[in-house]
Amino acid sequence: MRILITGGTVLSSTGAVKADVLVDGETIAALSAPGIAVLSSDADKVIDAGGKYVLPGGIDGHTHMEMPFGGTHSNDTFETGTTAAAWGGTTTIIDFAVQAKGTTLQSTLDKWHSKADGNCAIDYGFHMIVSDVNDTSLKEMQTCIDQGVNSFKMFMAYPGVFYATDGEILRAMQRAADIGGLIMMHAENGIAIDELVAQALQEGRTDPVQHGLTRPSALEGEATSRAITLAKVTGSPLYIVHLSAAEALAAVAGARNTGQNVFAETCPQYLYLSIEDLAKPDFEGSKYVASPPLRPKEHQASLWNGLRTNDLSVVSTDHCPFCFNEQKELGRGDFSKIPNGIPGVEHRMDLLHQGVVAGEISLARWVEITSTTPARMFGLYPRKGTISPGSDADIVVYDPAATQTLSAETHHMNVDYSAYEGMRITGKVDTVLSRGRVVVEGNAFHGSAGHGRFLSRELCQYLN
Ligand code: URP
Ligand code: ZN
Ligand code: ZN
Ligand code: ZN
Repeated sequence: MRILITGGTVLSSTGAVKADVLVDGETIAALSAPGIAVLSSDADKVIDAGGKYVLPGGIDGHTHMEMPFGGTHSNDTFETGTTAAAWGGTTTIIDFAVQAKGTTLQSTLDKWHSKADGNCAIDYGFHMIVSDVNDTSLKEMQTCIDQGVNSFKMFMAYPGVFYATDGEILRAMQRAADIGGLIMMHAENGIAIDELVAQALQEGRTDPVQHGLTRPSALEGEATSRAITLAKVTGSPLYIVHLSAAEALAAVAGARNTGQNVFAETCPQYLYLSIEDLAKPDFEGSKYVASPPLRPKEHQASLWNGLRTNDLSVVSTDHCPFCFNEQKELGRGDFSKIPNGIPGVEHRMDLLHQGVVAGEISLARWVEITSTTPARMFGLYPRKGTISPGSDADIVVYDPAATQTLSAETHHMNVDYSAYEGMRITGKVDTVLSRGRVVVEGNAFHGSAGHGRFLSRELCQYLN
């Protein structure tokens, strides 16, 4: 099957050109000046992209499908979550396999393969959450790398669950530095936070907003600085996940200015939502409980600036959907029992396009932070993250002039609310190709569970 995408503006991380794109089978065969006859005579199908952008499919480097948390599971399966991702122009996800304490990394990887394999609508890879640092798991980090999983998330938060001590983090970083792995860090001072949480509950402060008030931004800044210091001592590269606070960003920027291999992602919720959402009455605030928490609005300008300066390199969603009814409900009367997470895998491309519309970032930067840099960072480039001959034909045709309203009524994520309910969006996904297959075409879905393949990733390509 040969597909020609004609008349569009092809976007990359360096700019925009008018070009036609020829797809042959699963890969991109050629780019040409618009209207070259030899390309069109060859095509089985022509997609008219006139007036539209043609960009590399989004790569969401941070999702949690079917993730166990606090006695429940995030509500998207690999099938529903990757289908929703495709609707929103994301053609690759990297999901987190979660090591349960007392189990091996290999059994964790096997478990995540059994959940995902044959069920994804788009391509997918895994990071590994290391929650049990011991001689076996440190040794197994190499086994993971051998199987295409080369990034390892650790937690400075959630004592008793995922929390790792500074000593454990140091050991894992030493190992990562030795074998070329990437340490990803959930940087919040969980020991101090747990004290604040206990005090709040003791004083009868139980509403969702307390989730934010007991996790102050300074404690994200402190943990981020500490992680950076440990990375420096060990020579390990470091990737801070879901950065939400100006203090944490300052620490990352400071380290990068010295040439240290420190990177960070933020998420759309930290750019568009705030602690005011967490303070909504009638338990509505529970919809916005995630860690780190939504911050006071002032942080948002810093984050946009970080995206412009590349102190923030990537935007991922941290998609972790729990239904308002039944799941978020578990924490009514005790905010510390609200399952942590916000849905968003479907809306990342649209939400960041609003940054282009508002003049916060350029079109090229939109592509870079949502696709090209995640591809490089996570060892998928140039197979993913670019529209180039030989690359996988993961392509989004995006209509910048269309408008839409985000709503739980119309989204495809398997969750009963939208964190962005009623938000007006300029721009809309028109057509999506996943490895040469048209999976979204206007209002029709032509994808299927099982089309998505596991991506064995190369070691990371650092960009500092
Ligand atoms: O609240 C969040 N972010 N839930 C997902 C788990 C994590 O820490 O990323
Ligand atoms: Zn986290
Ligand atoms: Zn996460
Ligand atoms: Zn069709």
